[in-house]
Amino acid sequence: MKRLISLLMVLILLMGVTACGSVEKENQIKEQEEEKIQIGMSFDSFVIERWQRDRDIFVSVAKELGAEVNVQNANGDVEEQKKQIDYFIQKGMDVIVIICIDSDSLQDSVKKAQDAGIKIIAYDRLIVDADVDLYISFDNAMVGTMMAEALIDEGLAGGKVVMLGGSPTDNNVPMVEGAFRKVMKDNQVTILASTHADGWKAEKASNFIYENPLVIANTDAIMCGNDDLATQVVRALAEKRKAGSILVVGQDADLAACQRIVEGTQVMTVYKPVEKLAARAAEASVALAKGEEIQGEDVTIMANGQYQIPYIGLEPIPVNRDNIDEVIIGSGFHLKEDVYLNVPAEMPQ
Ligand code: BGC
Repeated sequence: MKRLISLLMVLILLMGVTACGSVEKENQIKEQEEEKIQIGMSFDSFVIERWQRDRDIFVSVAKELGAEVNVQNANGDVEEQKKQIDYFIQKGMDVIVIICIDSDSLQDSVKKAQDAGIKIIAYDRLIVDADVDLYISFDNAMVGTMMAEALIDEGLAGGKVVMLGGSPTDNNVPMVEGAFRKVMKDNQVTILASTHADGWKAEKASNFIYENPLVIANTDAIMCGNDDLATQVVRALAEKRKAGSILVVGQDADLAACQRIVEGTQVMTVYKPVEKLAARAAEASVALAKGEEIQGEDVTIMANGQYQIPYIGLEPIPVNRDNIDEVIIGSGFHLKEDVYLNVPAEMPQ
């Protein structure tokens, strides 16, 4: 009996020790989690195809580097985006990455976050006149030049174009359009009309086609702010049996745009390797969180209103019928069978 009691006591003791051990372990894990770098990311929306790719790559690279990412979607609502930034401040994030909806509206939010010791990255779109810790994007002027040059290569010099641009509150839009207009001017192209799709809503672009038949009958080309606008524009043109006879350009290399390029209803798109942008931004976020300076050959300093800010500008790549196999399929951005879905006979072997 005595032996049994002492055996039981030993067992109870052992159980206690293991329980203590597991509590300790749990606490350790908790501490490690808390010590992890915390990144908040506020997106404009996920309606446009590219942003899901941006998110997935950013999150996976940040994770590999030992950070945690809290992703929020503001659904095109500026006030919601401000609330998300407030929430991130309250949570004590190390870094906040913002894809701003309105380039002119977040100066106070940025200041509030920075006063709380949080670093700010303006991702893809500049927050104008704010002292952000990094602005990282593709060279937007280059995007506009590439669109314009593709049209000139197709014989537009001396002709007519309509510009159906993106959101007027997105600072990328005037950069793209400014560069586009310059090439048009240098080549004596007349801009018949220029409008903008508020909130990047594509139906604004197709409505222009429906509501302005005379302008459309008269134009040689349409510059679309991105491929999502181009999708609606080409659909509207198809209803008028004009798809393919008016030159259309866009940007983002959305799958639908790549399909139109091989089908002949869109002349070109601008491929922006968002993998590079997202991965570089994730690395930079972790460096900033560790208190390091953003360094590298790709970093320059640019003026942003009254501030000087670090800028990383990546190069976009123009894509047309001649290089789509190499650039888009070769890089794995889209699959060959998806791009050639509607024209399998033309699929390269
Ligand atoms: C980006 C484009 C994108 C658009 C709509 C712009 O700021 O540069 O790639 O298509 O926003 O989301």
